[in-house]
Amino acid sequence: MLPGASQRPLDAYVSSLASGGSGPADLLAVPVEAVPVEPGGVHNHGTHNSGAVVDPTLDELLAVNTADVIAAYKLTGRAGEAAQTMASIAGRAVSVLLLGVGDRSPRALRRAGAELGRRIADGGTATTSAVADESDEGLQAFAEGVLLGGYRFDLKSGHPQPPGPSGLARLLVGTVRDGTEALRRAAAIAGAVGLARDLANLPSQRKSPQWLADEAVRVTTDRGVEARIWSQTELAAAGFGGILAVGAGSVRPPRLIELSYHPAGDQSAGAQSHIVLVGKGITFDSGGLSLKSNDGMKLMKTDMAGGAVVIAVLSALASLGVPHRVTGLVATAENMPSGSAYRPGDVITQYGGRTVEVLNTDAEGRLVLADALAYAAAVLKPDQLIDIATLTGAARVALGTTHAAMYATDDALAQALVAVGQASGDRVWRMPLEDSYAPALASDIADLSHIATDGTQAGSITAALFLREFTGGLPWAHLDIAGTGRSAESDGELSKGATGFGVRLLLRLLSA
Ligand code: BES
Ligand code: MN
Ligand code: ZN
Repeated sequence: MLPGASQRPLDAYVSSLASGGSGPADLLAVPVEAVPVEPGGVHNHGTHNSGAVVDPTLDELLAVNTADVIAAYKLTGRAGEAAQTMASIAGRAVSVLLLGVGDRSPRALRRAGAELGRRIADGGTATTSAVADESDEGLQAFAEGVLLGGYRFDLKSGHPQPPGPSGLARLLVGTVRDGTEALRRAAAIAGAVGLARDLANLPSQRKSPQWLADEAVRVTTDRGVEARIWSQTELAAAGFGGILAVGAGSVRPPRLIELSYHPAGDQSAGAQSHIVLVGKGITFDSGGLSLKSNDGMKLMKTDMAGGAVVIAVLSALASLGVPHRVTGLVATAENMPSGSAYRPGDVITQYGGRTVEVLNTDAEGRLVLADALAYAAAVLKPDQLIDIATLTGAARVALGTTHAAMYATDDALAQALVAVGQASGDRVWRMPLEDSYAPALASDIADLSHIATDGTQAGSITAALFLREFTGGLPWAHLDIAGTGRSAESDGELSKGATGFGVRLLLRLLSA
């Protein structure tokens, strides 16, 4: 049974109702735990013992037997399971949510929180005893879930602006262990995820590369970040041939967004490590002259999801007290067909001088990333280099939507990413940088081709091998989020549409 301490929030709630006190919440969420059924024991479906355990205080609230409640709703305690009922408490009608918290792992609590968040998303409030005794880790996971589950994006005419998660922060902060560090961190992280979702969900007609740059400046100003926006002229002068080629077909010119974060009180630069994050910022990917089908194109407003993650991460570093130097580079362009577009067969010169034969203008992401990686390696010379991109349909085919494809030239970095992936909920799966596929990128007339020329099928791997050429031998990791960057449905802490995948992962990595 639950420890007695779990009853405190319920007791407090009841007395607040009884005293007619300061506006009780709309919803009272009571946790239901899943308990492992005894090995070899008979699982007694349909009667009392379904493996679910609910706070015994509920007996008094609902004036029924706990076991009957579990049986009536066929509760299992599975994380995110929910049954809503009415109770009469101190003479007032109260909505009670029986909320499955599973095994109370951070993952289960995040899922449970998300369900609660969905139910109070439209301005409601909740009081919950679900995390009364949780560790900071569990509390943070639950709060992140509430905030992320409550995320909404729409441009319906009745709503003045898309409601981001920031307005939801008060829901929990007013009710559960108010003001704790865990809740503050959860709000900062969920706020950054919400920002990345908002940027990626916005339709492309409203987001040019310059607009994205302006947003990047706006959300990082006064947050320990210096911004430099590279104009098309500046990119040309410095030799960013990939970004320029991909952006050449659009009337909205490309940009390189450079965001430099220095931790507060950073006097002795060099003491801490320097990490460069590179994001793919294709504000719309039509495929260019190698035009996509309508089906392939209709979701390509989110092809700047990696760039959105980098901007959102940079916006949150100061509030999370990240102790490292971090530089964010977002290579942003609109990939469009037109009389000025780059063509299949063109040979471009990437930053640093290497020539690349373009065989398909729809493999544009690697061209803009190669410039940014090469610039980072040559000029910024960080300790670690990480890029994040909706790069290949092949990554989505391989891993679906649960794990990002991760490639790394450094085992320690790869292991760290797997670990923070598990802990944060943004999971990654390491893929091989298979050297025997490298000859597939040979070109007869340029230093390299950007896609396989010999029928090699491993599309996500060959893209990663292409990028590796531009990393200057630095410890590097590549995250292909083509599958995880958007979700076809709302599920757990994911909202339909852009997911903000990578924000939680990178913020946790950088916080260590
Ligand atoms: N942005 C796409 C990859 C993508 C596809 C992301 C589906 C999310 C969902 C990328 O620019 C692209 O078009 N890649 C091509 C590469 C190919 C032409 C070598 C692909 O994956 O088909
Ligand atoms: Mn493309
Ligand atoms: Zn693309």
